[in-house]
Amino acid sequence: MKKVLEGLDEQSIPDGLMGFSTHDDCAIYPLPDGSKLIQTVDFFTPIVDDPFEFGRIAASNSLSDIYAMGGKPLFALNIACFPSDELPLEVLTEILNGGISIAKEAGIPILGGHTVKDKEPKYGLVVSGIVEDGKALKNSTAKPGDVLILTKPIGTGIISTAIKRDKAPSDMIQTAIEIMAQLNLCASTSMEGISISACTDVTGFGLLGHLSEMCKNSNVSATLEFNSVPFIEGVFELAQNGIIPGGTKKNLNFVQDDIDFSDILIDYQKLMLADAQTSGGLLISVPLAHSQELIAKLKDNHALAYSIIGQVYNPSDKLIYVN
Ligand code: CO
Ligand code: CO
Repeated sequence: MKKVLEGLDEQSIPDGLMGFSTHDDCAIYPLPDGSKLIQTVDFFTPIVDDPFEFGRIAASNSLSDIYAMGGKPLFALNIACFPSDELPLEVLTEILNGGISIAKEAGIPILGGHTVKDKEPKYGLVVSGIVEDGKALKNSTAKPGDVLILTKPIGTGIISTAIKRDKAPSDMIQTAIEIMAQLNLCASTSMEGISISACTDVTGFGLLGHLSEMCKNSNVSATLEFNSVPFIEGVFELAQNGIIPGGTKKNLNFVQDDIDFSDILIDYQKLMLADAQTSGGLLISVPLAHSQELIAKLKDNHALAYSIIGQVYNPSDKLIYVN
């Protein structure tokens, strides 16, 4: 992906607009009244069998980037691919209904969309949102003295692979679905009124990938405490048994040189930290002095996780030190 972006022709982007450069979560476009329009798009192939649940997960995942920027979603458009020769159209209806149910939870309408005939179903949303002037949260502004908080447990990539290999018990599948379908709205609401340094959502690059991006863009280093990172129940055992997605292995390879791992960590534990997430939680960098207030609000708003997983320091040899 990086290679593709590097090969793009240069555009002259006016001041105040934000695009590819820091790999932040949304594009930003200033509006005449001083507020900012933020926009994001994401869509992917099914990771669970149930079409309605797939729709919920994909929609929640698409909305996540808006919440990661501290914004409010306004409306969405569907983007879908569907093999209409091979699957009954009711399946597509179910997928779209899953999307509608999540849009309702987010308090926004889905105002249209587009479907293309394709061999494999794909679904997601284009989401437009708004953020008040000066309130957009970035991934490039973490500060030494911050602590890091993650709002959902890790392991949905490993569980998705277990589902494909028929190695995931049904209660584990249900837990993973509920985690992936939960909107980051509750985490985003919790940040309101607290001075947050930086935020991003944990998705395809995994916790290590998104954290290293945050550190690099903020010119800081961070420590990560393996034992403080929340994992979904059962993920330890799956990872130990070698159930690891290809994307997760690639993630670890990609960031390995920027990370100093404690000698006591075993390879499968490093892979767990790099696990490619779908619709993961928010990774929040908050000054230590405000962290307990944030944790209390995350608890009140029923976030799925809220423990401190690491700390931010002045830049050092490595981006991340994992203890
Ligand atoms: Co994102
Ligand atoms: Co995205």
